[in-house]
Amino acid sequence: MPDWIVPLADVRLSEEDVQAVASVYRGGWLSQGPRVAEFERVFADFVGARAAMAVASGTAALQLGLALLDLQPGDEVILPSLTFAATAATIVQAGATPVFADVRATDAPWLSCDRVRESIGPRTRAIVNVAYAGHPGEALALAELAAERGLTLIEDAAHAAGAWAGPRHVGTIGRLGAFSFFANKNLPLGEGGMLITDDLALAVRARLLRSHGLSSDTWARHHGAASGYDVVEPGFNLRLDEPRAALGTRLLARLVADNRRRAELAQRYVDAFGNLEGARPAFVPDRDATCAWHIFPVLLKPDVDRAAFRARMHQAGVQTSVHYPPLHLTTAFSARSASGLPCTEEYGRRTVTVPLFPHMTSFQQQCVVNEVKAAIESLTE
Ligand SMILES: Cc1ncc(COP(=O)(O)O)c(C=O)c1O
Repeated sequence: MPDWIVPLADVRLSEEDVQAVASVYRGGWLSQGPRVAEFERVFADFVGARAAMAVASGTAALQLGLALLDLQPGDEVILPSLTFAATAATIVQAGATPVFADVRATDAPWLSCDRVRESIGPRTRAIVNVAYAGHPGEALALAELAAERGLTLIEDAAHAAGAWAGPRHVGTIGRLGAFSFFANKNLPLGEGGMLITDDLALAVRARLLRSHGLSSDTWARHHGAASGYDVVEPGFNLRLDEPRAALGTRLLARLVADNRRRAELAQRYVDAFGNLEGARPAFVPDRDATCAWHIFPVLLKPDVDRAAFRARMHQAGVQTSVHYPPLHLTTAFSARSASGLPCTEEYGRRTVTVPLFPHMTSFQQQCVVNEVKAAIESLTE
């Protein structure tokens, strides 16, 4: 593993966090139980949703949310191509066809409501909005469009724990919201996710499908609330376990402070890159949005060689990434390419993500800024 001076993302747990997890292991009950229920309760409270279902990953949250729609072969789901593979893969695995729509602009890299409207056809059933980098994008307009056209809006809120559009937490704007707690996310559990909804009937079915479609779970049988079960419908095993739920409750308590720190660091990047020839911050958040700043992408000028830029950063010990290679240009999804996603393609060619995590030091951030400036200077001479 390279010894990065500044990794792209980093997790720091306190000794108390580690002790809290260790005490769950010592307690002997590891599978879904009271700590999962507690994490769901505090998460639902935090985002302002009526129900929250903890699951094993963000992908599992999308999978569970899509399963609730009973999609049929030929049904279409509109989504951005500028997203992680799981957003599209879960649609295919649910039996539907992903239809990619373009992002708003190269300085607004989120799903465009206008392009979605143009993509709606007779088989469209749902829209998946991705809160890119933790920005709500056009979620509010998409919710209106979905309501108008009788479609379901699912929010892929993998980047968006602690992100709001005005007073509404991202994930509560659509009918379903799916969060990821992967190790590089704002609430990092290693693996984990959460599906949220205000629709209590959907929540009941989601809880069933999460655990094999069984009418009672292992915990209920263990403490005597049930002695057997019916299999109500064929389900999955998408459960989260107790140690990670215990950590999740602890990390949620400091999410707002961590995101505030991310926002301060993002502002410093904006100040440092504002006048730079050759690169600019990828977007400016809307005035009424609270961006979670899961990542900090920049957009290189078209004449800057991105591969050379990233190689220089790597040499200097600064990890970078690309969010994202557009999905319609990948092997798995190329056959499903929509005609014409010019903003996605342009953005996908020029974007680079630089490191951002709450405990990044001034030294580390200055190192990134200096290396970005030096790399651009050397590549634009
Ligand atoms: C936009 C987006 N959607 C879905 C996922 C899937 O989440 P997970 O890795 O927790 O399965 C991710 C995470 O990497 C993501 O970034």
